This record gives sequence, C-alpha cells and structure tokens, in this order.
Amino acid sequence: MKNKYLYIETFGCQMNVHDSEQMAALLADKGYKLTENIKLADLILLNTCSIREKAAHKVYSELGRIGKLKEQNPELIVGVGGCLAQHLGRKFHKRVGHLDFVFGTHNIHRLPEMISSVENKREKITNVDFSKSLNSIGIYAPPANGTVSAFVTIMQGCNNFCSYCVVPYLRGPEMSRPPDDIIEEIRKLVDRGIREVTLLGQNVNSYGRTFGNDLNFTALIKKIGKISELERIRFMTSHPRDLSYELINCFAEEEKLCEHIHLPVQSGSNRILELMNRGYTVEEYIKKVDCLRKLRPQISITSDIIIGFPGETQNDYQETIDMMEKIRFDSTFSFKYSERKGTAAEKLEGKVEEGEKSRRLTQAQALQDQHTIETNLAMEGSLQELLVEGKSKNSENDLMGRTSSWKIVNFKSELELTGKRVKVKITKAYLHSLRGKIVDI
Ligand code: SAH
Ligand code: SF4
Ligand code: F3S
Repeated sequence: MKNKYLYIETFGCQMNVHDSEQMAALLADKGYKLTENIKLADLILLNTCSIREKAAHKVYSELGRIGKLKEQNPELIVGVGGCLAQHLGRKFHKRVGHLDFVFGTHNIHRLPEMISSVENKREKITNVDFSKSLNSIGIYAPPANGTVSAFVTIMQGCNNFCSYCVVPYLRGPEMSRPPDDIIEEIRKLVDRGIREVTLLGQNVNSYGRTFGNDLNFTALIKKIGKISELERIRFMTSHPRDLSYELINCFAEEEKLCEHIHLPVQSGSNRILELMNRGYTVEEYIKKVDCLRKLRPQISITSDIIIGFPGETQNDYQETIDMMEKIRFDSTFSFKYSERKGTAAEKLEGKVEEGEKSRRLTQAQALQDQHTIETNLAMEGSLQELLVEGKSKNSENDLMGRTSSWKIVNFKSELELTGKRVKVKITKAYLHSLRGKIVDI
C-alpha cells in the first residue's frame, strides 16, 4: 500500500495542540503518516483557533496558500477542525471553496469516518454538533519515542462566560472526565516512557463539579501522584476564583506537583475585572499568590493579561501596571482586547482606540520583560533539578531540560540523558532561557 501523508497545522492553545496529537493518532490507524513537508501531503488538516481576530486571520491566510496546492493536486484532501471551524460550521465551505470537510470541537473521534467518506464520495462534509459524551477528549495518543512529557485532557468546555471570551460557545459546557479513565491513560503513557504530565482543561480548578462526586481536583492530583514512575505533574489553566486553599496547600503536600502555576489575572482593575465577569478582586488574587509563595518560595507564577478592554481608562490601565509591579510575574502573555461576535463585551461602551491599545501593550510587555530577566538573573548560581527533554533547539551539541518552575535550561552533555533528572548549576540567564552546567546526574 502506498504511504499516505498527513500534514497538520495547529493554531491556538495547548488544548488544541493536544487535540492535534489525538487527530494524528486516529489517522495513523488509517494509514496516514505525519509529514512536516506540506508539499508531500495527501491530507492537510488545520486545527483552528478563534480566540482573537488575529488568530482567525492566520487561519485564512494559511488556507489561501493551501488553495494553490489544491489547484496543482486536486486529489489533495483539506479539512478544518477546532474553534474557528466550530464557529463557522457550514459557512466555512462558503468562505473557502476548496475545503472538503469541517469538523467541530466535539467531533474529533469522527475523523476517520469523515475521511473515508471524503475519500470515497468526494462530498463536502460538515460535523459541528455538540455531544453530551466525552468521546472527543479521551482519544489515546501514543507518545513518540523519546518523549518525556505529555498532555492529558481532564475536562471539556467551559461554563464561565468571561465577557470577552468565545470559548464557552465553541467548546460547549464544562464536563469532567472520569478519574479512572484519566489514571488509565496516564499509566499507559508512563509505560511508554512519559515522566511528566500536564493536565489540561479551561478551568481545571472546577474539575469534578459536573459528576457531583467528592473527587475534586486536589484529590485527582493526589491520586495521580501515586503512579510510581510518574515524576512530575503540571496543570493548566487555573481560574483564580476557583483556585481553592486546598489546592494551594497541595503545592506543599504533593511533591510531584511542579512549582509553577499559570494563573490568568486579565486586569489589575477591580472595575474591569467585574466587567469581565471574572468573579475575583485584585486583592483576592494577590492573597492567593502570597499564599502560594509562602508555601513554595520558588514557585513560578505566570499569567495572561488583556489590555484595552472596553471602558479601560488610563487609570485602570495604570492599576494593571501597579499590580504587575507588585506581583512581579515570572512571565505573562498579554494581548490587545479583540472584540468577538456574540460575547457580552461586544455590547459594552467605551471601546479603546487601537493605537492606544498598542501603546499600552508595548509598555506592559516592556515592563514584563524587565521582570522576567530580573527573576531569571536571580537564578544565576543556583542549583536546579531538570527533567531532560532532549536536544536543545539552539545547538546540536546541547541538551535541554526544564526546571520544576518550567524554565528552559540548555546545557552541554555528551551523554544520552533524555528522560533523566539531572542537577545543574545555572551559569547564565537570558530572557527566554537559562544556561546551566551539570553538577550531578
Ligand atoms: N481558559 C483559560 C484561557 C483561555 S484563552 C483561562 O481562563 O485562563 C487564553 C487567554 O486569551 C485568556 O486568558 C485571555 O487573556 C485571552 N483572551 C481571551 N479572549 C480574548 C479576547 N477577546 N481578546 C483578547 N484576549 C483574549
Ligand atoms: Fe474563556 Fe473565561 Fe472560560 Fe477561560 S474561564 S475559557 S477566559 S470563558
Ligand atoms: Fe483558541 Fe479554542 Fe484554544 S479559541 S485558544 S483553540 S479553546
């Protein structure tokens, strides 16, 4: 049988990255091999994102490029999945004439059947129905040889309806995956060499709420911690409102839980947080951060910030800057507010002018860079334990590992250490990585 090649491109968040891994696994069973060369592809899949206007634009421009390939090779199959596909549904075919199929966020498990149908009948397909099952998130994706870290989806959807956000409309209602399924998947991953898992969900802190039993997120982490060969546990994303003191304590109790938390704050103004429907104040947020730092002094705190939300005055913006100064995040992702159709914020008054948003964003990012480099510089001379992930991206001769706090450390070694834990001394700090020297294996 001739090899068939799959080219898959992922936009958006880690959830999408993992969904793409699941898609590739399903298609491997149908004889499709992954390729990084789009020109070789028999099937191209775009796993799309719609969180901001820019994310959607990127998808359209990539589809333009793919249209030219399809002119040269009419046999080429092109499909779109993910959040923009969920949003547009059938309309995607109207906008982009060369699509063969469009599938939504709850339809990943139907991919093999859709492909067969396109292969045989060459009809245009759309599958964007929401389902009440969790079929779409429990697909096992075997890790590639030598992979150390894996994602595990523990819940689907979101019920929070932050006023700016499209995710609840595109990923459906929140639903937690049964703990036994999660444990079984992690055991399988560990048997294949995985040593670190990142538990994924839009709001992992509310895990367990939907099946009404008493196993909450902290209990799940403790259960996962008992899997003996698993060494590290991470999770993402946490909602500050639902981050319980029980979970904060878990950072002191569960030694496999890494010393990093991504805790999106979004704004430093209580007035804006309320308009965003976030359900916490800056003071409550800071109290939780202080508590985390008291229990794990080295913990890395990262965050997301939206700049220029409707009604954000110079004063509100200044409060965000003040909050950043007070907290000093290890790093942040900051974005200009992007208006999304159908969200509550679309109807708010006081839209901030684009140039003003850019000016504020540049300033906030410069401040963050300063904080990031200062926190990294403070690590120079310290001893850190790394989990080695493989070759460094920068140099063939270097290896790369991450600290428990999720920082990248490059170091020289002749040995094959992937999957091992090593101790390094940090010799140099940069903005996006650190350099280290092995002191112990
Ligand atoms: N569920 C996660 C993250 C979802 S999206 C959470 O609640 O943290 C990732 C980030 O994108 C958000 O934290 C937010 O900062 C940003 N974002 C979401 N909608 C946006 C919009 N309309 N404009 C700009 N940024 C947005
Ligand atoms: Fe969006 Fe808020 Fe849900 Fe995160 S918690 S996905 S920002 S609605
Ligand atoms: Fe984008 Fe959907 Fe993730 S909108 S950020 S891919 S949940």
